[in-house]
Amino acid sequence: MHRPRNSSQGAPAAAVLGFLSTIALLVLQTGTCAAASQSASPGPHGGGIATPWWQNAVIYEIYPRSFQDSDGDGVGDLNGITRRLDYLRDLGVDAIWITPMYPSPQVDFGYDIADYENVDSKYGNLADFDRLVAAAKQRHIRIVLDMVLNHTSDKHPWFIESSRSKTSPKHDWYVWRDAKTDANGKRLPPNNWQSLFGHSAWQYDAKLDQFYYHKFYIQQPDLNWRNPSVERAMFGAMRFWLNRGVAGFRLDAIPALFEDPDLRDERELPGTNAFGDPNLAEEHTGNLPEVHEVVRRLRIMTDRFGGDRVLIGETYLPNIQDLDRWYGGAKHDELQLPMDMNIGFGNKLDARMFRARIDEVETKIHGSEPLLVFDNHDNPRSWDRYADGVNDALIAKQIAALLLTTRDTALLYYGEELGMRTSTPQRREDVLDPIGVTGWPKEKGRDGERTPMQWDASNAQAGFSSNAHTWLPVPSNYTSINVQSESADPESLLNWHRRLIALRRTKAALRSGNMVMLDQY
Ligand code: GLC
Ligand code: MG
Repeated sequence: MHRPRNSSQGAPAAAVLGFLSTIALLVLQTGTCAAASQSASPGPHGGGIATPWWQNAVIYEIYPRSFQDSDGDGVGDLNGITRRLDYLRDLGVDAIWITPMYPSPQVDFGYDIADYENVDSKYGNLADFDRLVAAAKQRHIRIVLDMVLNHTSDKHPWFIESSRSKTSPKHDWYVWRDAKTDANGKRLPPNNWQSLFGHSAWQYDAKLDQFYYHKFYIQQPDLNWRNPSVERAMFGAMRFWLNRGVAGFRLDAIPALFEDPDLRDERELPGTNAFGDPNLAEEHTGNLPEVHEVVRRLRIMTDRFGGDRVLIGETYLPNIQDLDRWYGGAKHDELQLPMDMNIGFGNKLDARMFRARIDEVETKIHGSEPLLVFDNHDNPRSWDRYADGVNDALIAKQIAALLLTTRDTALLYYGEELGMRTSTPQRREDVLDPIGVTGWPKEKGRDGERTPMQWDASNAQAGFSSNAHTWLPVPSNYTSINVQSESADPESLLNWHRRLIALRRTKAALRSGNMVMLDQY
């Protein structure tokens, strides 16, 4: 989770045009060098192994609540996704990543999981899931699931058992600590750690007279990865889905797995955050070296299912050296695709910056495959982050060109291909994402980037649902920004995406050519 601000306001038109020509040259250049570098890709995927499917793939993120409602309850579901597979095939996607669709109290809209081996009844059932996998397979589309390893829901039976008593066999599955006590006997949290979703990361349990740690919502207690039973249980859950035919996992908040066992306070930085709390460094609660041992074991486990399963990481990292570590560096034995968040979430339409960062990811990760992303369910949509108010439509095309013509694997977020806008709630009482309530008005939450997919203008729900009450409102711009009308317009952003994806499929240069940056800008 990361919510950068738009820093591109007012980018001059000249910079935009200069940027456009830079991109054009990039494509041209890779085109001329295709033949030379097509052969054996050294190292990362093992000698002699055919190019794995995920290399240069287009992976499409679906927020199941918002993609297609099939049963008229105003919430998207698995059968809805199955119904729209032909659209995804025609767009040219190789795989879909579905954000959590497991049983959940939905405090964090699925990222608070109460059962890792089932489907939430809102979204369907296991039979629907199996049908989706099979129907997708017929169209050569793979299914990647979201796996939340850092925490469960507080309604998960493991946590309920864990909080029963200090001697419960599951007590140590979560991060419990004794309280500190002040001079008046008041119970205080063990240290200054804060939740990314606001305020102390410690929640007091009066029955146990202890606090538990939660990096995210109070209803998302962190698992204790120092207990080997946790790893066994979680790997078991992943096997359950691998056996059902999933192609891999997107690992949620994976750098957060471990915390400092000595519970040292985080260093205070100047200023306060959107929640009014002091800014803290993340030295004892994120990216601890222990996590890499788990990831290496996980890689061994998924590799046993055959070489075509993939591990994708939600990896917001400060620099390229850290990103390389998540691949396993020269050993290539950790994640195949940790996300590069520095290119797509830099939020500045600056050709020099893109050039430097693309150059870096192309040359400093030991030949591993970059995974680029400009949009997801946690950040304002790229349209709004990069728009300058004058050349918005052109800019969206540039972003797509950058994403789909670099020699990378590309992530698309549903609606990005249409130019869907961020529709932030105007009033606090309309906010559903709890951080938008706690953080209002500085942090208005993530509802704005999760509105229903805009399919057509057949009804006021943009074809997403037959129910007038959709879980989030459909933005009024659906009448022009939708799949049907954009399909009919050759110049639309949707057709631009279709053409770029088709180009990338047919031109080897865009997948494996040399890339030379030209000094034209
Ligand atoms: C990740 C998810 C985000 C979720 C958080 C806690 O950042 O992308 O949506 O709220 O993890 O699971
Ligand atoms: Mg943790």
